[in-house]
Amino acid sequence: MSVSDDHRLAMWLQVLKLCRLQPEEKVVVLSSESSHPFNVDAATRAVNRVSPHTVRIEIPPIPPHRPGSDRTAFLGTTPLSGNTLAVEILKRSDLIIDLVGLLHSQEQLDVLASGTRMLMVVEPPEVLARLMPSEDDKRRVMAADARLRVARSMYVTSKAGTDLILPLGQFGTLPEYGYADEPGHWDHWPSGFISTWPVERAAQGKVVIDIGDMLFPIKRYVETSPIILEVQDGYITQIDGGFEAKYLRRYLESYNDPEAYAVAHVGWGLQAQASWTALGTRDKQQSLGMDARSFYGNFLFSTGPNAEAGGRNHSACHIDIPMAGCTIMLDDEPVVIEGVVIDPEQRVDYTK
Ligand SMILES: [Fe+2]
Repeated sequence: MSVSDDHRLAMWLQVLKLCRLQPEEKVVVLSSESSHPFNVDAATRAVNRVSPHTVRIEIPPIPPHRPGSDRTAFLGTTPLSGNTLAVEILKRSDLIIDLVGLLHSQEQLDVLASGTRMLMVVEPPEVLARLMPSEDDKRRVMAADARLRVARSMYVTSKAGTDLILPLGQFGTLPEYGYADEPGHWDHWPSGFISTWPVERAAQGKVVIDIGDMLFPIKRYVETSPIILEVQDGYITQIDGGFEAKYLRRYLESYNDPEAYAVAHVGWGLQAQASWTALGTRDKQQSLGMDARSFYGNFLFSTGPNAEAGGRNHSACHIDIPMAGCTIMLDDEPVVIEGVVIDPEQRVDYTK
């Protein structure tokens, strides 16, 4: 599937409208050598149509830290690190279109704290076109956010054997609905999920990553046998299973960082247009995997840092693990049952 030039421009204009971009606002389109050229072209043209106060900044890439991996494989150090000029310009803008995939860093937190809103866009145009955000996505994600914000525990189970208790309340939430419309809000097109971080050193139980669940940035389904993670006092203490368990063990060991074993953000997917099958049909190097992270009703478990939430864990190693078929309870009330979103406020209304 390809996306025509006109279609790309139209979808970018639509997303900028959702971002409430105004003609008097200052916009930076941030790109690097790794940015998708069609995204750079369409974003720049669309932004220029709305606001004359627009610059495109091309920042130098940082050397690859991991073999054959994408931006999510080494967090904390970004092309912005140490680039004080770029950071100053970004702070003075109202909206940043991040085509680099900066992800979480102190520099980004500083920019957002200045009130600048930021939209990261890394996936190729055909994924962007299929996963266009909508106001209804925001409504449902923010309904989930309202539930999660006040919850003091998340309890996750599955037929595969997951039985995980996650005390909550130390950190805020991370709602992602696909566009950046509020001052200081960071978002990612495409997305559509809610997450938070458990209280440090408090998660307890077992996570069974079943056949068909996925590992990112390794970008593969578990195919041979489930991976069993024992979690004690907020950290993975044991990894059992077959080939994929061995791979995960080796992958985590390669960072030589005890903090890589911490439980990081946890939440659930709310994007009904995202596809569980996408990882099997997409070129893995061309895609970040947002279908997998966002698909409707998945439990998104992850490992590594919580520094973006204000926590103490700065590990560069971060693994996202979308899991199907889980039941998620908040303070003893289910929001997802066996992979089905049940909260009426979060469900997609197919009758509209
Ligand atoms: Fe993540």
